Amino acid sequence: MSPQPQAAVGAPLSRVDGPLKVTGKAQYAAEFDVDGVVHAVIVDASIGRGRITGVDTRDAEAVPGVLRVIHHGNAPKLPYRDNPGSNNPPGRRLRVFQDDRVLFHGQPVAVVIATTLEAAQHGASLVEVRYDAEKPSTDMADATADEPTTYARGDAEAALRDAAVRMDLTYRMARNHQNPMETHATIARWDGDKLTVWDKTQWVVGTQTELSTVFDLPMKSVRVISPFVGGGFGSGLRCWPHTVVAALAAREMKRPVKVVLSRRQQYFGTGFRPSYEYRLRLGSDQRGRLQATVHEMDAETSSYEKFDEAIMLAGQMFYSTPHVSQAYRKVPLDVNTPIWMRGPGFANASFAIESAMDELAHRLRIDPIELRLRNEPAEDESNNLPWSTRRLRECYTVGAREFGWERRDPKPRARRDGDWLIGLGMAAAVYDPGRYPAQARVRLDADGTAVAEAASSDMGPGTYTSQTQVAADALGLTMRTMTFRLGDSLYPPTPPHGGSQTMTVVGSAVLDACNKVRGQAIKLAVEDEESPLYGVRAEDIVVRGGRLHVQDTPARGETYQRLLARNKLTHLEADGAYAGAPEPARHSYYSYGAVFTEVGVDATLGLVRVRRMLGVYDCGRIVSPKLADSQALGGMVGGIGQALLEHTVTDHRDGRIVNADLAGYLVPVNADIPEIRAIYLEGEDMQADPLGVKGIGEIVQVGVAAAIANAVFNATGRRIRELPITAEAFL
Ligand code: MOS
Repeated sequence: MSPQPQAAVGAPLSRVDGPLKVTGKAQYAAEFDVDGVVHAVIVDASIGRGRITGVDTRDAEAVPGVLRVIHHGNAPKLPYRDNPGSNNPPGRRLRVFQDDRVLFHGQPVAVVIATTLEAAQHGASLVEVRYDAEKPSTDMADATADEPTTYARGDAEAALRDAAVRMDLTYRMARNHQNPMETHATIARWDGDKLTVWDKTQWVVGTQTELSTVFDLPMKSVRVISPFVGGGFGSGLRCWPHTVVAALAAREMKRPVKVVLSRRQQYFGTGFRPSYEYRLRLGSDQRGRLQATVHEMDAETSSYEKFDEAIMLAGQMFYSTPHVSQAYRKVPLDVNTPIWMRGPGFANASFAIESAMDELAHRLRIDPIELRLRNEPAEDESNNLPWSTRRLRECYTVGAREFGWERRDPKPRARRDGDWLIGLGMAAAVYDPGRYPAQARVRLDADGTAVAEAASSDMGPGTYTSQTQVAADALGLTMRTMTFRLGDSLYPPTPPHGGSQTMTVVGSAVLDACNKVRGQAIKLAVEDEESPLYGVRAEDIVVRGGRLHVQDTPARGETYQRLLARNKLTHLEADGAYAGAPEPARHSYYSYGAVFTEVGVDATLGLVRVRRMLGVYDCGRIVSPKLADSQALGGMVGGIGQALLEHTVTDHRDGRIVNADLAGYLVPVNADIPEIRAIYLEGEDMQADPLGVKGIGEIVQVGVAAAIANAVFNATGRRIRELPITAEAFL
């Protein structure tokens, strides 16, 4: 078939769902009007570890409107079958209300169901839970790590001993919480033995799978509906206990039940980015060429699940290094299980690696960009595969030029603006986007409009819009005549809406389905004696504005409507698929970037203010430039939060999170955000997938924290190796 004209892909369109969002018509999980719904409020454990010795529900049940209190003493036993189809970390699952154990502060221990939210909240405050409390272990410094996951090539310890230049650096990164604007929520309803949930989730199919195993139901008996998600950043990548609570309560009550986590509950009712201690030893020659790196990474996990993330990859593939050794240790603590957070693994690994590269550059008096160029690998040294595309050199060149890097004085404390010490810093970035199998389907109707469907979520990146762009071009329709639907397990299955893969995998499946339908229509036309296209070679036909025509003779053609009507067809339809990453891999495939920033540090007070920031990205084809720009700006803002503000603080005496709210957990506000700008290198990566796209959602947060820390060093001469960088660091 002829390549279709690209009218929508690459155009800077606004969101197709924008009007729904700004008029309040977009329905989020808790907003569905489900007949007869009652409200449930979860009672969370007020100890960090131990046993429940008694639950007194009398006062709660006396509150007018309270219908019932469910806890481990009266809850039904749930099957909790194994769930091999989930992305839950290995381990036991937290089994809601199945025993008297308390595994972390905030664990659900009871739920109060009432006719109004107020009654449920009041009732929850009156449930008296008695405990046999033990001292929880929540401090990584005092806990014992599991056996490490390791990687080695060459002999890193020996090469390190022989290296002309050696550094031994330890970086610490605080625990972070995703804090999406919409807190997590579920409405559950049973119709006989069929369960429907309206849920905030980044993985419709994952929640469907988890509920089917917890309640031992066939997959088709569980429907998950999630058309809008008010931010995720990873918090919705698995099914959390409150969703099970809602389903369990709805079954017990024989009526629909709604659970909405409070902002406070969001901190222990869903996951978080684990804190890290990252020791990095590196050895180079006098010219700064890396000879050996040794990475030791300790991160928190829960006592009941082994959370794991891609903290190791960057250290294996990013710089040319003959000798590498790594040990990644998970430290089980009495906390709830972590979850991926934007740029998972890479956002923290890059803080250590990219800070260390800056330290090495300073020590050897080499420009930080030049040092990176000297270590640029010709291929992926971890698997000897060629890069699909790796355009970091261009990221550096464009970034340096657009940012004015030549104005940087390598000597710290060389620039001042009144009370402010001014510094420039940069860091490189990499992310490994997911490529899991996905499906989609499309139906072209006799009226010339089409609908494509996939079970994906859209947590905010603009999936409704970008998938419509892909489908509209592939079918030769306009944005108005093409509709894309998502967020329902009745649609074809897709992998998690995370790991920067939705554009790639759902987009490729949508493209496949649309190409098939366009092919069916073209075949119909060229074989139809009454069609003006009768006898034309199929590959000479394109579709534009819903009209099929000969590519070189636009006057010769007809519309989908006429073609289908004449053939008495109500519609054409097809299923499409993306098979997943090629096996075995023929290329090493990553998104890249370079981040530049200028900071001011108040010389007396130690306040750090970002003054401007630029990210330059190699992410393949950009389907939706306006939305991609929003992604980049949002990611950089997230990075500023990670660098300067975000820090979940635990009281180790009882395991309580002490700043479980947006007053105590700081995120950047408008006043913290200066001029920030993103540039995507033009081009596509046709090794990556049929669309030529690489992921953009995560890479845009990677590197930001290191760029800021490096700029802080350039401003002050102080090397801060702990996130977030706060004024105390300068005391
Ligand atoms: Mo992203 S951490 O995969 O939501």
